[in-house]
Amino acid sequence: MPLQIIVGTQWGDEGKGRIVDWFAANSDIVARYNGGDNAGHSVTVGSKLFKLHLIPSGIIHPKPVAVLGNGMVINPRSLIDEIDMLTKLGVEVNPARLRISYAAHLITPAHQALDKALEMVRGKGNIGTTGRGIGPAYTDKASRRGLRVADLMSVNLVDHLSTLIDEANQQLNLLGAPYINPMTVIDDFQKYREVMLPYIADTSMELAVAIAAGQRILAEGAQGTLLDLDHGTYPFVTSSSTVAPGVFTGLGIGMTAASGAEVTGVCKAFQTRVGSGPFPTEVFDDLALRLRGTGANPWDEYGTTTGRARRVGWLDGVLLRYAARINGLTELVITKLDILSGFETLKLCVAYRQGEKTISDLSFGPSDLEGYEPVYEEFPGWAEDVSGIRKWSELPRAAKGYLSAITKLTGVPVRLVSVGPEREQIVNAE
Ligand code: GDP
Ligand code: IMO
Ligand code: MG
Repeated sequence: MPLQIIVGTQWGDEGKGRIVDWFAANSDIVARYNGGDNAGHSVTVGSKLFKLHLIPSGIIHPKPVAVLGNGMVINPRSLIDEIDMLTKLGVEVNPARLRISYAAHLITPAHQALDKALEMVRGKGNIGTTGRGIGPAYTDKASRRGLRVADLMSVNLVDHLSTLIDEANQQLNLLGAPYINPMTVIDDFQKYREVMLPYIADTSMELAVAIAAGQRILAEGAQGTLLDLDHGTYPFVTSSSTVAPGVFTGLGIGMTAASGAEVTGVCKAFQTRVGSGPFPTEVFDDLALRLRGTGANPWDEYGTTTGRARRVGWLDGVLLRYAARINGLTELVITKLDILSGFETLKLCVAYRQGEKTISDLSFGPSDLEGYEPVYEEFPGWAEDVSGIRKWSELPRAAKGYLSAITKLTGVPVRLVSVGPEREQIVNAE
């Protein structure tokens, strides 16, 4: 099995980073295939908390090579800050360990300014983006004028940048947003260029060579299935292909490399979402506070990238079944089971009701969820703290009951359960 794909099954923040860290110990290459620094992946190793936005979580282990694939949009400033952060925390980052696709796109301050200005104009109907310039950068990519990593090697870099910033300024002016000084951006990019040049590679070719040599590739997804541009809760989505098939275009890997691939869906034991958009199983008030936490713990439900409080709710089995189908999941990893300790009863949404009709699968995907009422099945909770448990047999009977209901609903076996943010707080399924 040369390829394992780790994908979020919900609206992001499922704990993908810490699960990638778990599997990366046995991987040769860990590769990100989509998104940019809108992602925030927290990994806790002993007393160290790593907050990664661009570089795959596998970098924390000494062996794997980290790849930033062509499907990504990279803010060079964030990348350099992240390399500095890792170096300070004792992780060695050098061109032998970090490879950046020449075909990935670059985010400029103009993309960030446009992202924020467009959100202002949307007003109440805003998407609730991270403000990192993700949408505008992918827009430039799709309109075939974007700035690619390879352009850092080109003599035309300055011309390309100044055209892009001038065009963005015209748009910013119409939106009533401040002007971006092209000279400042050009000066900064000249500096970024010097840092980034040694890392630029043909990562598609390098991955092909690695696969042919039988190396183990771990693909790290950012965001989640329900934020996918095609398959998510459109238009309240991100602008990239977050789902497992995004690996093939986002890394430039041939489909046949996937024969026998493991597709691991990471799913939080309850549901969360940052930003706007439908959320049928959302809960409020005291129950919400109980699931979200107050912010006192680093794992409480406040965004790693923006610090925003995450919306919370019961696990949505209809959307999870959908994610299982769209990604072709072969296994599930359930995270944050420890947070459910102490509930008398747990609710799991097993279907939706619309008027007299009850449905367990959506007819036209998840973009229009208005008017659907969740149908819940109730499960007994458990009082025990599970965070110290490392053996399946020691999990409370009620916890096992809840987990097996998830498998029954999706048809996908649970392989691992995470019971805390620490690297070792993992239970292997029996
Ligand atoms: P990602 O974007 O999918 O990588 O997820 P985030 O890192 O944004 O959010 C997950 C949060 O939950 C982080 O703070 C993790 O440290 C934390 N976390 C992950 N797994 C567990 C778990 O099993 N229990 C607890 N309590 N926290 C967890
Ligand atoms: P990770 O990888 C959770 C959400 C934003 C917004 C929408 C569009 O940490 O799981 P964008 O800035 O991408 O244009 O915002 O997508 N979003 C995320 N939500 N986790 C993420 O990443 C996210 N990346 C983007 O909140 O609703
Ligand atoms: Mg996150």
